[in-house]
Amino acid sequence: MRNRGVVIAIDGPSGAGKSTLTALLAERLGYLHIDTGALYRTLALLVKRTGVAPDDHSAVEAVCRKAVIGFRRDAGHCRVMAGDEDVTGAIRTPEISMLTSQISAQAAVREVLLSLQRQMGRDGGVILEGRDIGTVVFPDAEVKFFLSASADERGLRRFLELQEKGSTATLEETIAEVVRRDRQDADRELAPLRKGADAVEIDSTGETIASVLERMERLVREYLSTSAASERRGSA
Ligand code: DC
Repeated sequence: MRNRGVVIAIDGPSGAGKSTLTALLAERLGYLHIDTGALYRTLALLVKRTGVAPDDHSAVEAVCRKAVIGFRRDAGHCRVMAGDEDVTGAIRTPEISMLTSQISAQAAVREVLLSLQRQMGRDGGVILEGRDIGTVVFPDAEVKFFLSASADERGLRRFLELQEKGSTATLEETIAEVVRRDRQDADRELAPLRKGADAVEIDSTGETIASVLERMERLVREYLSTSAASERRGSA
């Protein structure tokens, strides 16, 4: 066991419920929640602000190598920081979503974030959510989930979220964007979105958050009690 507990990896496409479920599971277990998509989004925001072309790989790399990004816990909320600036809201626009998916296919971008993510999860007691956590970032994570849901349902969830923020995008447009982004994330050469052979797949189509959460928590607790029992046997 790592210092503070195990590493839990949660991967899956956008709108599969990863963020909501990771936050709730982390709270129940007393684990730290690390939203790795937010790290990629922050780099995309910095690329956009710098004005470099997203397909100019060396210019994008220069922006990423200079970036200082991380999280700050503030009254129970997790804020995403670029240097001293709180970018939590600014990284959640459809434009940044598409740009993030585009730049996250680049080797240098992934390399910068790979070491940061490994450093953040090193001591355990963490749940990381993303696209390649169980396959690339922490292939030795003790518990791995792959969350999925139908494209229509994921598009609907994203649409409702965007509507709350005052967006005028239609449901059809939102579903089309979700599908386009998934294709981009799954078809890329480096660390593509895919389910690892050892991940537990949970399809949340038509399921409530509560029932999926319960299933995930049960699996984690089963793992923890089995590994504690075998550790006790090992030290007896
Ligand atoms: O989870 P999200 O929608 O916030 O992620 C935004 C984009 O970041 C997503 O389209 C792909 C990329 N990403 C990635 O390539 N690897 C990760 N571990 C997390 C996100």
